[in-house]
Amino acid sequence: MERLRSELRRHEHLYYVLDRPEISDAEYDGMMRELERLEREHPEIPVPPDSPTLRVGGAPREGFVKVRHSAPMLSLDNALDAGELAEFNRRVADLLGGQPYRYAAELKLDGLSMAVHYEGGVLKQAITRGDGLEGEDVTSNARTIRTLPLRVAGAGWPRFEVRGEVIMTRRAFDALNAEREAQGLPLYANPRNSAAGSLRVLDPSVTAARQLEFIAYFLLVDGQPAMESHFESLERLAGMGFKVNPERSLCSSLGELLAFCTKWEEARETLPFEIDGVVAKVDSVAQQRLLGWTAKAPRWAIAYKFSARAAETVLENIEVQVGRTGTLTPVACLRPVVVGGVTVSRATLHNEEEIARLGAAIGDTVLVERSGDVIPKVVEVRKRPPERRAFIMPTKCPVCDSIVVRAEGEVASRCLNTNCPARLKESLLHWSARTVMDIDGVGEALVDQLVDLGLVRSIADLYSLTFEQLKDLERMGEKSAAKVLANIDASRRRPLPRLIAGLGIPFVGERTAQLIAEAIPSISRLRAATQEELQSVNEVGPKVAQAIRRFFDEPHNEELLARLKDAGLPMEWTPPSKPAGGALAGLTFVLTGTLPTLSRDEAKALIEAHGGKVAGSVSRKTSVVVAGEDAGTKLEKARELGILVWDEATLREKIR
Ligand code: IVH
Repeated sequence: MERLRSELRRHEHLYYVLDRPEISDAEYDGMMRELERLEREHPEIPVPPDSPTLRVGGAPREGFVKVRHSAPMLSLDNALDAGELAEFNRRVADLLGGQPYRYAAELKLDGLSMAVHYEGGVLKQAITRGDGLEGEDVTSNARTIRTLPLRVAGAGWPRFEVRGEVIMTRRAFDALNAEREAQGLPLYANPRNSAAGSLRVLDPSVTAARQLEFIAYFLLVDGQPAMESHFESLERLAGMGFKVNPERSLCSSLGELLAFCTKWEEARETLPFEIDGVVAKVDSVAQQRLLGWTAKAPRWAIAYKFSARAAETVLENIEVQVGRTGTLTPVACLRPVVVGGVTVSRATLHNEEEIARLGAAIGDTVLVERSGDVIPKVVEVRKRPPERRAFIMPTKCPVCDSIVVRAEGEVASRCLNTNCPARLKESLLHWSARTVMDIDGVGEALVDQLVDLGLVRSIADLYSLTFEQLKDLERMGEKSAAKVLANIDASRRRPLPRLIAGLGIPFVGERTAQLIAEAIPSISRLRAATQEELQSVNEVGPKVAQAIRRFFDEPHNEELLARLKDAGLPMEWTPPSKPAGGALAGLTFVLTGTLPTLSRDEAKALIEAHGGKVAGSVSRKTSVVVAGEDAGTKLEKARELGILVWDEATLREKIR
């Protein structure tokens, strides 16, 4: 516990004082939770008054400037079922004394709220909710959110404020976690946490890479609603270029409101983002004023909360699965339980460390949660019966009986036998996956047969399969066999980044493979690259570089690559001039003069967030000079060399 405390203090100093964090927010939170758990479970050991756990939670971070809100950002009272919603409606009707009224119903987005101030139509400041009265200035980070307009033309007010929710779509969340898993980083629990973690980092380029969205739900002038109807203000916001709650409805009765709630409780999974309820607001602002506020929440609005998607059940066993990099993943076998309408009997436990963090053992009663399409997760242990059995990671691979190793500094245990059938099957599935080599038809059923019958002993064997071999397999036939062969053949034409991603090098997911291929676009050069060269690639640290080196140093892999080459797969690549890394990827910028709204640092962050580079001086390598007022010699030089010159508006135009 003392070691955790001193580590936490060190990281706090790095974060708050030096602005130089060495670990992610999530890792920090994980350590903090671990300390909290130990303190809770060992009440016999006194907690020193300066323990990091005793710091007041939720207080604004020192790294950000605190700002007062124009009017408090209140929260909402909850209605947990139709009865409570009816009760709320009765109260509204009573207080309005028989006046007719309507509700604007919106989805309750599961993110974090933020207030954004505009002056002269230009985004000036973005503030997190904080404690409702005071939040944190996160302007530089908010600017990287693409659905948040940086400029609004013809709004009609010299100053106005927009409040809304910052969210992460499920797709972005899954991609982020997949990447983190590939890199051996701790995973975010849900899109809400990762949205919060991504907004509250001190480096805007991190926020930019996270694909957040801002969805607006209030339009204010001087802290007051700008329009007399809430519903109309949503339409107005949409007209101004904000993204608003796509599903909204004006309801004239409790029945209509309830129908909206039920509809979305059932259809929530069809949305690209997570919602946890429906918000109903009395539409007329005059009536809102009549109804007023309590200290905590308005009397004119309510959050109808969907039923929880977590349930308690018994952890009956922990099985171990072997993945394509040989990683042994513990999987929870649960007494089947219905969670939000779906029966769950298995859930991921990630690795040994996660089991230790949860303090879970076989026989415990655990809380299982489903969020979105995400695989069910064990989030907490609720009961620890005396007859519980500790889980012990096997020292031999459960499939091939080879020795299992957990490398220092890694959370995963791995089977080292590259020919382990479990690894081979997973490797083949990974290789064929849609986002990798995209070989339709090579799924679990086929891979099992190919490996079990000894037809495929390596990825390269896929490319010498014959029609005769395939057509008599189970669930195959002549037509499917021909199709599969054609699909395998088509995969010969996938570009190098996909091939690199397909190799199953630990920590090298799709994104990392792309970055590696952009920097070193040839397998022979990659094979010859030193650890240092590899580390000079963006986002490749010592751990990843070492994994790549190890991969190429292994004779089996050398043979695999030689065979893939013989099979006609590409070993070289010409990166396109504008790769997917952002609208400005591949371009080198030089900034000069004073830009109308962006500071030098903000402009740099914005360019980098969209994949561009910023250099200090103009040369023939410069692609674009962004010039503002009082631009000097750099602009002259750019003109001399015939280099493109943009103003701030053009820059913004290009990255819209
Ligand atoms: S209205 C006083 N509308 O829910 C009005 N909030 O518990 C409060 N939220 O802090 C906000 N979707 O973070 C409103 N369509 C929506 C919302 C929404 C999500 C969040 C927001 C707020 C919390 C209230």
